[in-house]
Amino acid sequence: MSKTTRTETKSGSRRAFLAAAGGLAATVGAARAQGAPDPAITELPDWSRHLGEGVAVRPYGKPSKHEAHVIRRDVEWLTASRESSVSFTPLHELDGIITPSGLAFERHHGGIAEIDPQKHRLMISGLVERPLVFDLEDIRRFPRRNRIHFLECAANSGMEWRGAQLNGCQFTHGMIHNVAYTGVPLKLLLDEAGVRTNGRWVIAEGADASGMNRSIPLAKALRDCIVATHMNGEWLRPEQGYPLRLVVPGWEGNMWVKWLRRLEVTDVPLLAREETSKYTDLLADGRSRRFTFVMDAKSVVTNPSPQAPLRRRGPNVLSGLAWSGRGSVTRVDVTLDGGRNWQEARLDGPVLDRSLTRFYVDLDWQGQELMIQSRAHDSTGYVQPTKDELRKVRGVNSIYHNNGIQTWLVRANGETENVEIS
Ligand code: MTE
Ligand code: CO
Repeated sequence: MSKTTRTETKSGSRRAFLAAAGGLAATVGAARAQGAPDPAITELPDWSRHLGEGVAVRPYGKPSKHEAHVIRRDVEWLTASRESSVSFTPLHELDGIITPSGLAFERHHGGIAEIDPQKHRLMISGLVERPLVFDLEDIRRFPRRNRIHFLECAANSGMEWRGAQLNGCQFTHGMIHNVAYTGVPLKLLLDEAGVRTNGRWVIAEGADASGMNRSIPLAKALRDCIVATHMNGEWLRPEQGYPLRLVVPGWEGNMWVKWLRRLEVTDVPLLAREETSKYTDLLADGRSRRFTFVMDAKSVVTNPSPQAPLRRRGPNVLSGLAWSGRGSVTRVDVTLDGGRNWQEARLDGPVLDRSLTRFYVDLDWQGQELMIQSRAHDSTGYVQPTKDELRKVRGVNSIYHNNGIQTWLVRANGETENVEIS
């Protein structure tokens, strides 16, 4: 019995597609073998004729030169200066769940601080029994934790509140990255200092020119925050806060203070710029939601998408990412016809707590127009809303926390566009 027919699935059409794909797999290759001789097969390429570069000629490895287009990009008109700006992760070029360190989007308020690790210190002050100052060697003497988490800027998809705008998931959804962190649970550092009984908040402050700071509820700080030193196995990159950054799992990216230099325990929040004039959500009636810390469940189809159109008819892999700041992704639904019919996507693991989760739909595309959407469900039972559902409750003044369902229109020629269904 073939693997295909043994596949357990509730959907008849999916079973039919798998059977067809099994048959087609041979045909797709065979069709090319039958045409004119393919020099890629009949001629020995250059790289097979002579020796390649030796080991350690490239002491720090880089991607193939043929992948030079896979880069972070910015939107020129979005900000006045590069030092207080944002670049976007090329989500449409990536697969799996880990963001390579060199492609992780960056958001800086005062440029990248180039810190000398010998001269960097972390101070814990305020409502503690013993104010402490650590150098990096001290930090590395505490027990460590490894976690994979997404970081999403609260402004991700912010340009889309008033309608479809940017053509590409890199720009609509690319203020997110998902990397493996190694660091010290913040609780261990706070315990060392001894938080006084009236401590309620921890103010985290960066050593960059913006001295960016945010107030974090003490309960969150003690529960799961990490003072990270490493990212994807190596020291943090300067762009991501070398040598210390705060990891605040599931909460808005702005709170993940980079170049961390100070933690002050207080009884009240600081009400800093980043939690009053910024990162509050202005509603239609003029009131603002504040302390909207958690990033709600969200998803996006990364392929096809405007920067990654469909190229060939027949079997195609539709792929995307889903995440939730409240737990893990339990299910992703995908529609190809603007929401009339939904099918369950295949989550391909690992499926982790507050991490990006990869999903796939194996697609048979015969050149028909598609209206693609994805809808994430999380472990709390929450289902990702439509953009219109969000607008009804929040209006269109805010730029933050837009986790509405994204629509891509795939035309008959495979070109793909950012649209909305009204
Ligand atoms: N920390 C400091 N010290 N300075 C900053 O400008 N930007 C914040 C946060 N931490 C920032 C910071 C914002 S708004 C976001 S979204 C994340 O860092 C971005 O993290 P990244 O650059 O690793 O993507
Ligand atoms: Co941000």
